[in-house]
Amino acid sequence: MSTNGPYRKPLPGTQPEFLHEPYGSTRKRSPSRPLVIVPQLLAELSGPAFGHDEVGPEHSDLTIHGAGAPLGERIIVSGRVLDEDGRTVPHTLVEVWQCNAAGRYAHRNDQHDAPLDPNFAGAGRAITDGEGRFRFTTIRPGAYPWGNHPNAWRPAHIHFSVFGPAFMTRLVTQMYFPGDPLLAYDPIFGSIADARARDRMVSAFDLDLTVPGTALGFRFDIVLRGRDATPMEK
Ligand SMILES: [Fe+2]
Repeated sequence: MSTNGPYRKPLPGTQPEFLHEPYGSTRKRSPSRPLVIVPQLLAELSGPAFGHDEVGPEHSDLTIHGAGAPLGERIIVSGRVLDEDGRTVPHTLVEVWQCNAAGRYAHRNDQHDAPLDPNFAGAGRAITDGEGRFRFTTIRPGAYPWGNHPNAWRPAHIHFSVFGPAFMTRLVTQMYFPGDPLLAYDPIFGSIADARARDRMVSAFDLDLTVPGTALGFRFDIVLRGRDATPMEK
């Protein structure tokens, strides 16, 4: 993991603002007063942490935990975690969560009228290898309606979390799929003003990642900070 010292700030418009009017819930949760900077001390930056030995290779395959195979299109999602200078970030925890192929989360709060899949829980985790690389096997998630505006549907996406050395250094973002027509209508994706920064959340189809007859492949690199940082949720 790289140091927590000074680093280049992201360019304006490349990270989401607290308030983005078209994204309805930001009107309620965005701060109305100036923020107070709470300095992070060693206690926050060094712990609490998680146990690396609790993450096994089976946790990065989201398709093997049911009695049978989940429904949908099997995909490989792989990439690297990088710092602002393009250095890889080895041995850090990457977590994903997503809905199933029908657009339904296996969560009691999701009451979307779409079927649950008994063979798909939609959560996985992996530790990056010595070159900062992660690799998940999963199902391509479906779109789902979310009520933000008339007939609003989220483009297909996978939620990503990257831990640094401690819980306080966690970063969260979303990975999208190339060519999705819903991207142009999505106020969460659109909350990033800079088009090139938005595109850093869109994965790339990668033939080299595919598994013949079994899975398609998408590449998604995550840049933690600096001018080329992946947009992260506040
Ligand atoms: Fe989601």
